[in-house]
Formats: sequence, structure tokens, C-alpha cells
Amino acid sequence: MTRIKMVESTGVGWALPTPEHGNLTTGDGGQCPPDGCRRQSHVKPGLFWLCLCVLVFGAYTSVMANPPSLDDAHKTPAGPMVGHTTATSALVWMYTPAGTDVLVRFGPAGSSKLVHSAKLKSTPTTKMGAIGRVWRAELNDLKPATRYEFAVHLNDGKSLPEHRGSFMTAPEAGEPVKFRIGLTSCMKAKQPQGSLSLFYDDRPDVHLTLGDTVYSDSTDPRLQWKYHLQYRQMERFAKVVRSMPTYAMWDDHDYGPNNSDGGAKGKENSLAGWTLLWHNPPTGTPTTPGAFYKFTWGDVEFFVVDGRYYRSRGKAKDDETKRMLGDAQFKWLIDGLKSSKAKFKVIASGSTLHHSLHDGWRIYTFARHRLFDAIKSNKFDGVVYFGGSLHRSLAWEHHESDRVGYPLVEVISSGIANSKTLSYATVDFDTTLPDPTMTVRVRLGTGKIKQEQTWKLSRLSHK
Ligand SMILES: [Fe+2]
Repeated sequence: MTRIKMVESTGVGWALPTPEHGNLTTGDGGQCPPDGCRRQSHVKPGLFWLCLCVLVFGAYTSVMANPPSLDDAHKTPAGPMVGHTTATSALVWMYTPAGTDVLVRFGPAGSSKLVHSAKLKSTPTTKMGAIGRVWRAELNDLKPATRYEFAVHLNDGKSLPEHRGSFMTAPEAGEPVKFRIGLTSCMKAKQPQGSLSLFYDDRPDVHLTLGDTVYSDSTDPRLQWKYHLQYRQMERFAKVVRSMPTYAMWDDHDYGPNNSDGGAKGKENSLAGWTLLWHNPPTGTPTTPGAFYKFTWGDVEFFVVDGRYYRSRGKAKDDETKRMLGDAQFKWLIDGLKSSKAKFKVIASGSTLHHSLHDGWRIYTFARHRLFDAIKSNKFDGVVYFGGSLHRSLAWEHHESDRVGYPLVEVISSGIANSKTLSYATVDFDTTLPDPTMTVRVRLGTGKIKQEQTWKLSRLSHK
């Protein structure tokens, strides 16, 4: 008789399958196909389906988030979260309620003792409506491409398991590299969180989250902080961000209201709150504030652009006056691409190039064409685009690639914790090969790989 077994999660271990991804297995241990196992049961069909529905509903609801109270989130520590990481340094973010002292110790993975102490700086968060401090721990004198462990001690106490983490440092800038970057966007606390377990199990070396990291829908940092602290106290997200360097860019819902743009009132307050929330590399330029920045991982460079702070109104006429990045940020991007020696040059943003009908580069034709034309006229090779926002995930070659001079690949990863399919994408770069490659995998919340595709650098280059 075929047996249908639901594997239960302990709710603690990440290595075990989670309920929503619980394997429906046949009696001989084989996996059920996507359209279900063929049933040969002596149980009456009606009763069987009733039981199955109860099981599936129970499994679904058991992974529905049970977030801490929004208003009380600032009374509990949040983090640690690994931020910007180079070949020799890393930043760790932590929030603690008032009156809490912090000590961060670190050392190479596998050391019997973490003998080094991080340099600490803390900032009060009362302006953000949070009665506590945000901590920036600098871990210095690290070795490239090496795994480190760290532990956060509160008030000289023993470090709790949830306050310990690890990460891999970046290889030397410019060195050939083989690594995986995991992309997320669109996360709500009251949605199923199980895909974050799948994401963690995919073991990305780096995590880039591209907007709608929470849905506070306001430029008031006091509200934004409530949502962020709450989400960072969610078990699955907390496990991800303490286990790999995490870089972030906002989209509309974590910058301001839905589809908000450069005209959003209070955007300066959003930016002030955002820069305390994430330990990204330094953002903006001395004359152009914004959330944009760049970082490298070996010979792959990431230009993470801010598509909100200078965006023209979406409903404005789609002519040559309509901007997506603003002129100063666009110049920063093009100058950066000009000076980049990276084999792959990734432009990452919360917005899509084409798939969002009312809120992306699609309705900013001049800005889009100006970018595409610059790639062609400057002969920038290996440019690819990462986006979020869509609430589904895919990789494709833009239909206007002739304008670029080679296939412009866009990878969209969206809805890991707020969509029907709970999908996300990972990208493996291998620049150690004679013809470097980029392999995109799109995974659904069921665990199924929906798309897997490799592009060679020679194809993403001008002839
Ligand atoms: Fe979203």
C-alpha cells in the first residue's frame, strides 16, 4: 500500500524539511511527482481527502508567521545581522533595548575560542521611536575567502545560540571567483516564511535583498523601524541574516507609500532611518544623497541603484524629462561601470526593467534607453540586471537587447514571503572558467526548481 507521510518540522532545526515543504513520500521512499502520488488506499476516498486537507491546512498554518507585536518589537534585541563584508573586514548589525551592553567576539570558523573582539559603535534610536541602540561591530584584520564565526554577548552574559553567526569573507577584489548570491524581495511578517528555510539551505555566500523588505508604506522612520525590528525577530529571516553578508536596497513599500517616487514627503527621514537599519557600504555621494552604493566580490561588481529617491512621478508623460535614477546617480553608475574591471557588472534595483506594467523602467523609456545606449556606446561587457517587486521570479533576455549590443539578462527574485508561489532566485558566478558563467536558479516555495539557465560571458559581451 502506498503510504503518504508528512515530515514535520521541529521548528528549531533548519536542516529538516519544513512543514510547507514536507515531502509527500511514497512507501518506497520515492518522491511524489508534482501532480501528486497515485493513491492505492483502503481508506475511503472522502475520509482520505478530508484527512489530507486537515494535514495540509495544519502544515500551512503552522508556518504562518507568528510575529512579535509591532509596538513591542523595540523592547527585544534584534539581529545580529552580517552586513558589508570585504576581503579583510565585516560589519555586524545588532539592536538592543535601552540599558544593554554589547560585546562581539569573533575568530576563524572551527576555532575552539573566539579570541578577537570587534570594535563597537552604538547609536541611540529614540528618533526612530525605538527605545534602544543600534550597534555597528567592525570585525577587522580578516583573511580573504575565509569563514569566520562570531558571538554577540549581552550584558557580559553567555552568548545565546540565536546571537551567534558565521560568514565567508570576500575574495581579494579582482580575483577570479566562484560563489552564489541569493536574491530576495517582498517579505511580510504575516505570510508563510518557509521559503527562507529553502533559501538558507541553498547556502548563498552573499544575500542581496531588493526591496519591500517590509511593508511599512510610510516615510516615517518610527513606523518603518517597528516593521524592521519585528521582521528581524522572525526566526527564519534572523537565521539567514546572521549566516551570510546581507546587502539591501529599498523599493516603494520600505521607502514610502505604494509606488512612491522622488516627490515623497519625508524621504530624507526614510534615508536616515534606512542607513541605520542596514550596514551597507557607504551610500550616495558627498553631493548626492541616496541609498545607492557598490561592492565587489572577487571580479564581480554590484552597482545597487536607488530607483526611488530621484524617480520622476510614474504618471508623468513618458518623455525625455522623465527620470528613474536622477542625472547625478546615473552619472555615478556610468562612471562606475567605466572604471570597473569586473568580468560581470551587476546593476541591482528594487524595480523591474519590463514586467511591472505601472511601476518600473518600462514606463521610463528615456531613462531605460539612456542606460541601454550607454552600455553599447561604452562597450561595457558582462552587464546584467537584478530586480525585485514583481511577486514572482524569473530570468529572461530583454526584448530591446539589440540596443545594448548583446542579450541583457534580467533576473527577478520576488515574493519569497509575500506571493502565491513564495519564489526566489539564486545566481552562481564562476569567473575561474576560461569563459566565465552565470547560472540562475529560480526556486518555488514547494522546493521545485522552476528555471535553471546558464549564460556564458562571451555571449554577454560586445563582438
Ligand atoms: Fe512587494
